[in-house]
Amino acid sequence: MGRIFRLISRPLLAVQDSEKAHGRSLLILKILSSNPLTRFILRTLYKPNHNLPITRFGINFQHPFGIAAGMDKRAEALRGWESIGLGFSEIGGVTMLEQEGNQKPRMFRNGKDRALVNRMGFNNPGSEKVALRLKKSRKFNRQIPVWANLGKSKLTPLSEAKDDYATTLRRLWRDVDVFVINVSSPNTPGLRELQHGDYLTSIINECISENLKSADMYGAESKPILIKIAPDLSFSELEQILDIALSEQIDGIVATNTTLERPNDVDKTYRESGGCSGAPLTTRSTELIHHIFKYTKGELPIVGVGGIMSSEDAWEKIINGASLLQAYAGFVFEGPGLTKEIVNGLRKKLQNSEYKTLEDAIGSSVSLE
Ligand SMILES: Cc1cc2nc3c(=O)[nH]c(=O)nc-3n(C[C@H](O)[C@H](O)[C@H](O)COP(=O)(O)O)c2cc1C
Repeated sequence: MGRIFRLISRPLLAVQDSEKAHGRSLLILKILSSNPLTRFILRTLYKPNHNLPITRFGINFQHPFGIAAGMDKRAEALRGWESIGLGFSEIGGVTMLEQEGNQKPRMFRNGKDRALVNRMGFNNPGSEKVALRLKKSRKFNRQIPVWANLGKSKLTPLSEAKDDYATTLRRLWRDVDVFVINVSSPNTPGLRELQHGDYLTSIINECISENLKSADMYGAESKPILIKIAPDLSFSELEQILDIALSEQIDGIVATNTTLERPNDVDKTYRESGGCSGAPLTTRSTELIHHIFKYTKGELPIVGVGGIMSSEDAWEKIINGASLLQAYAGFVFEGPGLTKEIVNGLRKKLQNSEYKTLEDAIGSSVSLE
């Protein structure tokens, strides 16, 4: 399936505007997953034949591979993600206020390197509209966990960021299983400053407080809250974030968002401003995962994202400490068959290794001495 996608779709994609191509693919997925027959066909084509179960934050995942934030900013294709076999989906980034995002064009592809550069700037319908869309999804029996990526509205000053994040969390609370506080997108001015010190602590505290209030109101358990970090942090900056995450009892770290680094300054795509993702990010993201696992002695669950284009990349992230995985660019360049390739590939890697379960393999190449 992957080979067919590469043969037919790649040349087609190459001549289309990246954002338009993305919009069309989402629409097709949404249409195909709205009908039981086409849903069955999607499942037959793309769903991995075997599960690779893992439990994190008290949630059972059929396998560890999900869709990364940014792919479904409006929560439009929830049924689509489960039909093509993902283990979970992350919608958003959602901001408290509706916003247009940056001027178009704002998404660029480099097919040769399998890289993307984007400066979307959190274009999304805002937390009220996304909450309504999620509410509608109660009509069908959701098969996989839905995560929400929380961003900050551009208009909100950094000093009021905590209220922006916490308001979105409150509005989406009932219909979301896991929240990700995104303080690492490079396309909202000042956002990455929120990764540090008092800003980060106040955002976490406000979100935890809203989480507990909502849990109390609905008589339910509180939901896991994770933090998503940038790959451009130094190790000492990263450690400061981890100290806060551990002391404030954050449930996990998503590593990483897109990078400001470029493989070169010659290719046209790389001269565009914004965050770069895909194959050029693979190694840096894995390095950070390794460091997080080592520093926290494996105590903090890590969601590995950044340049997962194959099952080899996925396995590297697992043995360096990730327990769940996500991709964006991989789907753009490898197509919807990527999930099957990765889950089947991970099962094979596991069978050929000394480890019995995925759990045993996680962080196995990190020395905790
Ligand atoms: C077009 C685009 C939009 C994105 N939007 C978001 C977003 O809203 N929130 C977020 O946390 N990450 C966002 N990301 C980052 C991805 O979730 C992911 O962390 C990053 O692309 C690295 O993964 P990849 O190499 O598999 O693409 C976006 C990425 C792309 C390419």
